[in-house]
Amino acid sequence: MNPIKPSHWDTLLAFDQKHVWHPYAKIPSSTPAIGVSKTQGSVITLADGHDVIDGMSSWWATIHGYNHPVIKQAMHDQIEIMPHIMFGGLTHQPAIELAKRLIDLTPPDLVKVFFSDSGSVAMEVAIKMALQFWISKNNPEKNRLLTVRNGYHGDTFATMATCDPDNGMHHIFSQNLVQHFFAPAPEMGFDIESDNSDIQAFETLLQAHHTTIAAVAIEPIVQGAGGMRFYRPAYLKQVRALCTQYNVLLITDEIATGFGRTGKLFACEWADITPDIMCIGKALTGGYMTLAATLCTQKLVTQLVMATRDSSCTAQPLWPIL
Ligand SMILES: Cc1ncc(COP(=O)(O)O)c(C=O)c1O
Repeated sequence: MNPIKPSHWDTLLAFDQKHVWHPYAKIPSSTPAIGVSKTQGSVITLADGHDVIDGMSSWWATIHGYNHPVIKQAMHDQIEIMPHIMFGGLTHQPAIELAKRLIDLTPPDLVKVFFSDSGSVAMEVAIKMALQFWISKNNPEKNRLLTVRNGYHGDTFATMATCDPDNGMHHIFSQNLVQHFFAPAPEMGFDIESDNSDIQAFETLLQAHHTTIAAVAIEPIVQGAGGMRFYRPAYLKQVRALCTQYNVLLITDEIATGFGRTGKLFACEWADITPDIMCIGKALTGGYMTLAATLCTQKLVTQLVMATRDSSCTAQPLWPIL
């Protein structure tokens, strides 16, 4: 493709400002979006010819850099063979191989993979899995989530309801969202000596409401969009123990932290825990295409299989409706 002439860029950017609604942009937008003409490695070349370093990896996704030859070649090869096929009732080698690698790489016991198209949808699927688990146990009253303040899990309706209700960018929709339980944010600091008042407050909420709580949803080790708040692994370890103690599932949202972003392949490894459900996205494809996944443990799978086999149970076959 020929490089775009500067005069044409002016026309494109004027159209963009008038007609394109960018994520998190105000309407009307006071500042135009910045034109980008190409990317290479960690460098973004802007429309005006300046090179800038991408210090945020395109919202934490581009972990291998832009235009990586191996990823580009794999994408070219696949598009030649089969650019798309629906996944309902059909399968293919790349999906099977990816599922196998994810099961091998993620914490032990995560055995089943549901693929989706964005981090928000992966979290929606996680919430549906948790709700279905309790419905299948004839405990439908366990239908709320417990999470922590300063969290961010996406922009769809179910996920907006789990984001910080005040600083989570979604407060104007608060009347339209399911009301969940919010514990105080974990104390900031990866290697601090804490007085544990944060985890005590978390336990107080869990103790009071566990009969209506399906799952805890949390970003492990780093609360990303909520302020890049790192917290101690001991807190996460305690969250895992309390979920087990109070019979509540644990959903860890590794969409931002997964694939090495905290120094371990997955942030859960800092606390040596396995969640019941785990969400990954973003760096899963290095940002080259939109793909996410939700993994769950054998415990969930076994429960859903048992429920569908037990004719006295009111639960319906659950997987196909995800
Ligand atoms: C922790 C976390 N969860 C979920 C999401 C939503 O992912 P997506 O933007 O792919 O829907 C994000 C996005 O930044 C995230 O950081």
